[in-house]
Amino acid sequence: MTQAFAVAQPNIALIKYWGKRDVATNLPAVDSLSVTLQSLSTRMALEFSEQADSDTLTVNGIDAPRMLGRVSKCLDNVCGTARLRAVVTSESNFPIGAGLASSASAFAALVVAANAAAGLQRDKIELARLAGQASGSAARSLFGGIVSLTVGETEIDVQQLLAPDAWPLEVVVAVTEEGAKAVASGDAMLRSARTSPFYSSWLSKQGADFALALDAVQSRNFAKLAAVAEHNCLKMHSVMWTSRPPIVYWNDATLSCMETVRALQAAGVPVFFTIDAGPQVKAVCLPEVAAEVAEALRRTAGVLRILQSPLGEGARTVDSL
Ligand code: PMV
Repeated sequence: MTQAFAVAQPNIALIKYWGKRDVATNLPAVDSLSVTLQSLSTRMALEFSEQADSDTLTVNGIDAPRMLGRVSKCLDNVCGTARLRAVVTSESNFPIGAGLASSASAFAALVVAANAAAGLQRDKIELARLAGQASGSAARSLFGGIVSLTVGETEIDVQQLLAPDAWPLEVVVAVTEEGAKAVASGDAMLRSARTSPFYSSWLSKQGADFALALDAVQSRNFAKLAAVAEHNCLKMHSVMWTSRPPIVYWNDATLSCMETVRALQAAGVPVFFTIDAGPQVKAVCLPEVAAEVAEALRRTAGVLRILQSPLGEGARTVDSL
C-alpha cells in the first residue's frame, strides 16, 4: 500500500512535560501523565508518490510549508531517508498551535499513517517513540484513556494506565484565543532550562508529583488527582514566568476561568483546571457535572467558545480522510 489514512486525538497532560533531557533525540527531562480526548481530532491522508519530487503538506486546506521540515524529518525517522516523497493532507477540527496539543494529534496520526502507507509493521511503542522525537507529547496520543510517559536513559516508555471507560472523566476546554501562540513550546522549554531559577527544582520534584498522580489514577481518587494536577500545572507555569525573557501564555480570560473553576470547587463540584502552552483552560471533571462546568465556563468573561470531550482511543488507521 502506498496510501493510508489515520486519525489521532490530542492529549492533555495532568502531570506536565516541560524540558528536554536531550535536544537531539527530543528525550523529555521528566515523566508525564495525560488523558487522551475523543471529540477533538486530527485526520490525516498520506500518499508516497513516485511522481512527487518533494514532500508537500496541506493543513485544513492550506499549504503549510512552515511545518514541512518537522514532518519530513518524522517521515525519514519512520520510513528511512530513501523513501518516496510524501503528499500529506491533515484536517483538524480544533484550533492549531494554540495550546490544544495539535502537534500531539498531528504527529501521532502521521507516524501511524506512514507506517501503514509504507507497509511497515512497527508496533505501538515504536511508533510512540518516533512520534515523540517530533513532539514530546505526541508519544502519548498513540494510546487512549489515561496514559503515562516515563523517561529512561535513552528512550521513553509509554503505557495506557486506564482504558477510556475504566474511569470516564470529561474534559471541558474554554477557548479564550483562536490564534497561534507567540512562542513555540520547544523553544520555550529550552529558554526555561537555560534561565529559570526554578527549573532545577521543577526537575527534582517531578517524580513525587508523578507518583501521587499515578496512585490517584490507580485508586480513582478524583480529589487527589485534582490537587496534584493543579499544583503541577501552576509549577510549570511558574517556571515559564520566571524564564528570561518571561513566557506568559495566559490572558485575562485564562485567570477568569481559573476563578470559575475555584468557585465550582467551593460549591462541591468535582472539577479541576489545567493549562498548557497557550491561554486555553481545560477543566477536567466527572461526567455528571460536565454540563454544569461547561455552562459556568461559557458564561465566564472572555471565553470565546467551549469544546467538550470524554476520553478516547489512541491513534489508529481509518479507511478515508
Ligand atoms: O510536545 P510539545 O513539544 O508540544 O510540548 C508539550 C508541552 C505541554 O503541552 C505544555 C505539556 C505536556 O506535557 O503536554
